[in-house]
Amino acid sequence: MLIYAIKSAKKKNYLCGNLKMSHQSFISGLKNQIGQSVTLKGWVSNKREGKGIAFVILRDGTGFCQCVVTAETAGENGLNCAQNISLESSVILVGTVLSDEKQIGGIEIQVTQIEEVGTSIDYPISKKEHGIEFLMDQRHLWLRSTRQWAIMRIRNTIIFSIHKYFQEQGFVQMDAPIFTGNACEGTSNLFETDFYGDPAYLSQSGQLYGEAMAMAMGRIYTFGPTFRAEKSKTRRHLSEFWMIEPEMAFYDIFQNMDCIEGMLQAVIKDVLANCKSELETIGRDVSVLESSLGDFPRMTYDEAVRIIKGEQDVNGVNSIKSLEDELASKQTKLAEIDAEVADKESKINGGGLKKGEINFFTNKVNTLKQEKSDIEEDLRNIPQWINSARTFEYGNDFGGSDETVLTRLFDRPVMVYDWPHEVKAFYLKRNPNDSRFARGVDVLAPEGYGEIVGGGERETNVESLIEKIKEHDLPMSEFEWYLDLRRFGSVPHSGFGLGLERMVTWVCKLKHVRESIPFPRMYGRLKP
Ligand code: 4AD
Ligand code: MG
Repeated sequence: MLIYAIKSAKKKNYLCGNLKMSHQSFISGLKNQIGQSVTLKGWVSNKREGKGIAFVILRDGTGFCQCVVTAETAGENGLNCAQNISLESSVILVGTVLSDEKQIGGIEIQVTQIEEVGTSIDYPISKKEHGIEFLMDQRHLWLRSTRQWAIMRIRNTIIFSIHKYFQEQGFVQMDAPIFTGNACEGTSNLFETDFYGDPAYLSQSGQLYGEAMAMAMGRIYTFGPTFRAEKSKTRRHLSEFWMIEPEMAFYDIFQNMDCIEGMLQAVIKDVLANCKSELETIGRDVSVLESSLGDFPRMTYDEAVRIIKGEQDVNGVNSIKSLEDELASKQTKLAEIDAEVADKESKINGGGLKKGEINFFTNKVNTLKQEKSDIEEDLRNIPQWINSARTFEYGNDFGGSDETVLTRLFDRPVMVYDWPHEVKAFYLKRNPNDSRFARGVDVLAPEGYGEIVGGGERETNVESLIEKIKEHDLPMSEFEWYLDLRRFGSVPHSGFGLGLERMVTWVCKLKHVRESIPFPRMYGRLKP
């Protein structure tokens, strides 16, 4: 009897507090509910007031919409409630959906009932500019801001898309352990923990376990947290990040590159198709994402080095010459901005302007100053890039600037393979035709983002592996099980690791990787 009562209450209009509500709607679906009365539950993300009217910008997690409250439709109590409500208070409201192309989402709500659920007094994040450290300290609240909301939704689309891609291809998802006894990616950045009195490390990579599972399943992928103790603050490094690591039996390095390209393009396609409003919200120019749907250039380390050093052009463009040209044009641009700022400031200070005009010019000056600080950053960086490109020593791994110099010449990710074996991990197979090179492949994202994927074909020869483990000074006993994979039915196989946060950072064109993950863990940051 009781169960029946609850069920029927759900179907009919029911009472919550003082509101008579219909079933809850979500902002993302309102375009299809024009003319209907709907119930919305969310938070006040912004508010404006006029005489006898309040405009509440409501957010409910699925989107944002303007809700208009007047005494005529919502009663004096409703208007009072809206006028007194503060930022980030939670509310339930009922209203009619009206079509209005001028408003966010192309709709507006004419509110008939509104009620506060939880109040929010002195919300610490306001519309004014806050410093990044302050915002990071307020990360638990900052996630509600429009830009952070959009980034997290794009992250979600990327995660879903990766699973979809691999599942549709028949890969089996596996979970690799987090506590490990071995170092997969060098010993310099291990987080050591105490495992019942014995040392254990937080996993840097699930790859070695992925290789074992690939021998059971054929093709697998891991999707889990990985850890690297990086005692430096860079815009690319986290201490805890999520890695997707596919591993495929019977794949060589070239099939591996096909798989990388297929996955990255499937993800980019899904983001372009499903995150239009989020990309717009963060102001992402999508042209590079669109061109990334074309074939990725593939080049050997040798060729990449020639391009970086300016010994080989890409489509008629020389790396060093183009950097020098850019330096000159940025210097000119800086002088132009300085002149424009001076002009606008003299107008503002000259007196005689109306309030609206002063605001207009002040906003313009602020935009110009932001542009100026971006250009100044480039002017500091470009000479360093030119210098590191000129002095790059063949045989070295690429640093951040080398990656930037190379990828600036392309409008899509590039794949660099066949690296000097000394600079890459112990488990990579040597090129059978030239043993100086290991069959590793790095994918470097354009627009200065650099490495987003690292992978390669695995060594299958037990003797060569043992030699490499010794060379890297790794404890042999921890790798006996790994060597077994070569002793019992070994096959050629390959795989790679995509850093989820690096991907989100590039897709969203963020300045720093810290905004790509809900709660970043990095050198100097463990809270909140
Ligand atoms: O190049 P890495 O070190 O390769 C591996 O771990 C291999 N075991 C992967 C494999 O073949 N299965 O790391 C792979 C990717 C990098 O390309 C980068 O995107 C990301 O992981 N990554 C980081 N992301 C954020 N912060 C860090 N500290 C990262 N270190 C690596
Ligand atoms: Mg790497």
